[in-house]
Amino acid sequence: MLLPAYPHIPTPEECLPFATALLEWYNAHQRPLPWREAPDAYRVWISEIMLQQTQMERGVAYFAQWMQRFPTLASLASAPLDDVLKAWEGLGYYSRAKNLHAAARHVQHNLGGVLPSTPEGMVALPGVGRYTAGAVCSIAHNLPVPAVDANVERVFARLFDVDAPAKSKEAQAFFWQTAQNAIPQGQARHFNQALMELGALVCGKRAKCSACPLERFCQASYLDLTFERPITGAKMVYVPLQIVTGVLVHRGRVFVQKRLDHGAWAGLWEFPGGSLEEGETPEQGVLREFSEETDYTPQILHPLGTVRHAYTRYRITLHAFVCTLPGNPQGFLATALHAATECRWATLEEMDALAFPAGHRKLLDTKKTHIIQALHNAGTEAL
Ligand code: ADE
Repeated sequence: MLLPAYPHIPTPEECLPFATALLEWYNAHQRPLPWREAPDAYRVWISEIMLQQTQMERGVAYFAQWMQRFPTLASLASAPLDDVLKAWEGLGYYSRAKNLHAAARHVQHNLGGVLPSTPEGMVALPGVGRYTAGAVCSIAHNLPVPAVDANVERVFARLFDVDAPAKSKEAQAFFWQTAQNAIPQGQARHFNQALMELGALVCGKRAKCSACPLERFCQASYLDLTFERPITGAKMVYVPLQIVTGVLVHRGRVFVQKRLDHGAWAGLWEFPGGSLEEGETPEQGVLREFSEETDYTPQILHPLGTVRHAYTRYRITLHAFVCTLPGNPQGFLATALHAATECRWATLEEMDALAFPAGHRKLLDTKKTHIIQALHNAGTEAL
């Protein structure tokens, strides 16, 4: 009983057999995810934004911590942005966290503290696109609206043998209209999640067709094209980046600065540094970065090590050095800031409470004993 192939948009009647089989499978195989127990709009919204950023297991862990810290939309709205960024630390793409915060404040101050219950209302919020609006309205309110993410695209590309690139206008129109037509009456909440769940658990990149409740409907399986679907665009070209950074220690503390309010990692804390320039050694790069970003002219004590980190299409190698201030001046000299809005001489414990970009956090975590040693030396030299 194969489904009609792309580009024919299947009617609700044509969809019903596969939708029924999918719901039955979901009933037996769904994961016990925390927001499924109590799918109120705030919880679903937070989970959806998090899951755009990370895999399910990590998403669940972040979600639990988030709900402890910000159990309600009102608590998120009244929190300082720094706390929100800290709760998001490690997920990356910090504009998502800022948008959550801005949207919560808008809802709290202008919409009576209640998230909109229609897709149109939801997409008007910062950071909410068509997918998130559809997911929140269908999962929280059981509204019959579609929610097409990459999992759903993959499932449909295979079920209907979509031979246009998945991100093309034609394929997208097909996915969204089909996802709309396929929702069985009164079942939007379960059906939309069932599609995502099938994409995550069975119809993944490595499809497990023998475990699939929809195999008998699937065009791609029938044509032996499962691994050719979906058709993706050009492969990502990775860009290697050499970054240098200096952990400046002085009298038991480390110099950290808060990044500007725009650009990558806006508003997060970091050690000064930046891209290595053509022909420079990493040591020269660190000293140049300090002179560009601060008034300090530190000296390098020793290398702290190298950390590798992936960020969107960048493959970053972070060369870190422990630095000190020559002459070990009394107190903590102030500095002008040329690439930051604030700075601090922080203890290790204070740094734990600040939000750092993942590469710098990784440096802090993996080189902690070396940093403690450097802090200890800097502390005793100061005595
Ligand atoms: N991916 C994003 N949201 C999801 C959900 N509610 N269930 C399963 N996978 C998801």
